[in-house]
Amino acid sequence: MEKNLIVAFGGASPEHEVSVLTAMQAISALENSPYKIRPLYIAKNGKWYSGEYLLDLKHYEDLDKLTKQASSCHFTHNELGQAILTEVKSGLFSKNEEYIIHAVLTAFHGAAGENGSFQGVCEMYNIPYTGSGVMGSAVGMDKVTAKALCKSAGIPVVDGTDFFENQWVDEQDNILNEIDKLNYPVIVKPVHLGSSIGVKVCPDQETLIEAVEIAFRFDEHLLVEKAISPLTEINCSVMGSSRDCRASVCERPMGTEELLSFKDKYMRDDAAKGMASADRVIPADIPDSLSSSIQDTSKKVFGLFNCSGLARLDFLVESNTENFYFNEINTIPGSFSFYLWKESGIDFDQLLQELIKLAVSTHQKKNGRVLTYETNLLSQKAVKGIKGLKGNK
Ligand SMILES: Nc1ncnc2c1ncn2[C@@H]1O[C@H](COP(=O)(O)OP(=O)(O)O)[C@@H](O)[C@H]1O
Ligand SMILES: [Mg+2]
Repeated sequence: MEKNLIVAFGGASPEHEVSVLTAMQAISALENSPYKIRPLYIAKNGKWYSGEYLLDLKHYEDLDKLTKQASSCHFTHNELGQAILTEVKSGLFSKNEEYIIHAVLTAFHGAAGENGSFQGVCEMYNIPYTGSGVMGSAVGMDKVTAKALCKSAGIPVVDGTDFFENQWVDEQDNILNEIDKLNYPVIVKPVHLGSSIGVKVCPDQETLIEAVEIAFRFDEHLLVEKAISPLTEINCSVMGSSRDCRASVCERPMGTEELLSFKDKYMRDDAAKGMASADRVIPADIPDSLSSSIQDTSKKVFGLFNCSGLARLDFLVESNTENFYFNEINTIPGSFSFYLWKESGIDFDQLLQELIKLAVSTHQKKNGRVLTYETNLLSQKAVKGIKGLKGNK
């Protein structure tokens, strides 16, 4: 029987298009795999679609036509309790298609696809899915929580302060005093976004106030950090389970502007290649000792956040001192960071197949544990003891 691999992507996220690119790259890499690929495209308005039409990148140039040509779809269970993807067929005499799900390859970037929400849906349907679980995904998407956890584990992070929009309205002076203590220049970031959206380096208070007002358009929670300068950025990917993982070589991404912007990452001429198109030095041209410290720290953070599957961990290095700080973790990195694993002799299709196997084995382990009790606490006998219930005389 064919194994249906659901490739899930899109979603209501500023990184929607980047997710489409990652998914299409993955689908083409899996062309000769034993899996039958079934797309699960979530439109920007949140609707779910499937069907062959979604397998061609060219069709994404016209999103209205795309969703008209595709079928709506949903998860459900069959009579045997197996999770299935139902493709809804609209014709009068058409019958819906039902596919038993082997696993879901999550290829979302940002928002509900990466922050644990979609992972929670898979948990509820008891479907194996690639990447981190609900907790790792949620922590990874919250820059303040991620940094606080790292700090508590002795992993270096850049000093900063965070605040919500209502606090900014009520106690702006206190917040500005806290920011003064960090010493300008500082950097403003929305807590839950990615791709440098709303991120700005501020040399003084005036620029800061402006940047804060702009960033609040994207998120109600902001983080202001001391800006590291001179800055070298180093990333490292980790794969495996939280207790048994390995690190890739490090990369040094390069931006043309002072910080790596959305434009640098995705809007270059060769954007169709996704994250793999950005300029980067692999392996990073930094001392071996620094590379291995960053690799060790990456594995430690991956374990600390209870991640699984694959992630990319981003670090900020103060170039003159070589002090390094954990900056963020991407639990579904652009292009699955495949270009980092190539250096270790792992091809993109091998990488994806390993992620799928990990998803299935994690799921099997979970299902091997006791999840429910055989006794029905609501059976006649058991309920008798509970007073005050209607019908329980
Ligand atoms: N403390 C900092 N000092 C200097 N530059 C920073 C600092 N934090 C982030 N940056 C720059 O801003 C970019 C985006 O910030 P980041 O925290 O990675 O947010 P995002 O989730 O949007 O990628 C980084 O790639 C880096 O170039
Ligand atoms: Mg980043």
